[in-house]
Amino acid sequence: MKRKVAILGATGAVGQRFIQLLQDHPWFEIEVLAASVRSADKKYKDTRKWILSSDCPPEINEMTVVNTDIKSVEKAGNVDFVFSALPGGIAGPVEEEFAMKYPVVSKASAHRLEVDIPLLIPEVNPDHLAIIPIQKSNRNWNGFISTDPNCSTIQLVITLKPLMTFGLKKVIISTMQALSGAGYPGVASLEIIDNVIPFINKEEEKTESEPLKILGTFDGTRVQQANIAISSSCNRVNVKDGHLQSVFVELEEETSIEEVVKSFEKFKGKPQRLGLPSAPDNPIIVRGEENRPQPRYDRDEGKGMSVVVGRIRNDPILTVKYMCLGHNTIRGAAGAGILSAELMAVEGYI
Ligand SMILES: NC(=O)c1ccc[n+]([C@@H]2O[C@H](COP(=O)([O-])OP(=O)(O)OC[C@H]3O[C@@H](n4cnc5c(N)ncnc54)[C@H](OP(=O)(O)O)[C@@H]3O)[C@@H](O)[C@H]2O)c1
Repeated sequence: MKRKVAILGATGAVGQRFIQLLQDHPWFEIEVLAASVRSADKKYKDTRKWILSSDCPPEINEMTVVNTDIKSVEKAGNVDFVFSALPGGIAGPVEEEFAMKYPVVSKASAHRLEVDIPLLIPEVNPDHLAIIPIQKSNRNWNGFISTDPNCSTIQLVITLKPLMTFGLKKVIISTMQALSGAGYPGVASLEIIDNVIPFINKEEEKTESEPLKILGTFDGTRVQQANIAISSSCNRVNVKDGHLQSVFVELEEETSIEEVVKSFEKFKGKPQRLGLPSAPDNPIIVRGEENRPQPRYDRDEGKGMSVVVGRIRNDPILTVKYMCLGHNTIRGAAGAGILSAELMAVEGYI
C-alpha cells in the first residue's frame, strides 16, 4: 500500500513541483494539500496560479485546500508523513507541531542547522539519518524533522563530494539563480527584465554554512563539521528554471583535470545502489563542450535530478574551476525532498 502524504505549502512553486512529481509515484500518494488562510477551504484550482507547463491533474484541482495546522490536516485525511514547502520564516513552529506525531521532510531553512536534525542529500550523507533517533529522544517526539539543503547548496555539494578524495580545502562560488527560486510571483518583472540583481537575501550565508554540515562526519552522536573554507556570491538572473554556478576549488593533492572529470563521472551514491525511484542514473553529468552547461538546454537532465558540470579547467590561483547547473525546483527542491523520503522509507524511518 502506498504511503499517504500531506504537502504543506502545496500552492507555491515548490508545492506545485511536489504535486507534479508525485503523480504516479510508486510508493507515495497525495492525501492532503495545505497552505495559508488565503487558500484554505478553497478548491485547489481556485487558489494560486498553476505555473508549470504540464497541466495540474484534474483530481488535484478538485481537492479542498486546508490550513497548515495539524487539526485541519488530520480532519482532511490520514497521513503517514508530511512534505513541508513553507516559507522559512513560517516553517519553524508548524513543522515542530507536526513532528510531534509525523515524519516531516522539509524544504524550508528553519531547522537546517540544528544539531539533532539531518541536513540530507541522499547521495552525499545518507549516514546522517542516524541523527533521527537522537532527535526523537531529545525532543520526546513520535515523529521527526529531516531537512533538505538550500537549492544552490544541493547542486554545489553533489559536485564537491567526489572532490573530497583529493583533499578539498577552499571553495569559491558565484551563482546565477533562476527566477522560480524566488517562488511565485517572486521578483517583479520590471526589476529583472534587462537586469541582474546581485543580492539574494540570506543565500550567501546558506551556501557558506550548509555544505560544512552536509560534508561533515557523523561521529555517532553529532556531526563534526567539514574543515573547508567557502566564500559565496549570489545573483538573481532572468532565467525561469535552473541555477548556474561558477565554482573555484583548492585541492590539497596535485590533481589532473582528467582525474577530476573521472571522479565526477563515476560518482554514485546510496540512491543509485538501492535503485530508488527518483534517483538519476548519474548524479553528475559532465559536458565536454566549451559553452555548456546552459540552463535552457541542460536543466532537465536525469528528469531534473542530475547536476550538469562543464568547463572543467585549471585555475591559476586555486586548483580547478568549473561550471555546474541544477534544476532548482526539482533537484534543488521537490525532487530532492521525494528522494530523501524514498531513502527514509527504505531505511524504515517512514
Ligand atoms: N523555489 C525554489 O526553487 C526553492 C528551492 C529550494 C527551497 N525552497 C524553499 O521552499 C519553500 C517554499 O518555496 P516556494 O518557492 O514554493 O515559495 P512560494 O511559491 O512563495 O510558496 C509558499 C507556500 O507557502 C504557503 N504559505 C505562505 N505563507 C503561509 C502562512 N503564513 N501559513 C501557511 N502557509 C503559508 C503559500 O500558500 P498561499 O498560496 O496560500 O499563500 C504557498 O503554498 C521556502 O522555504 C523556500 O525557501 C524553494
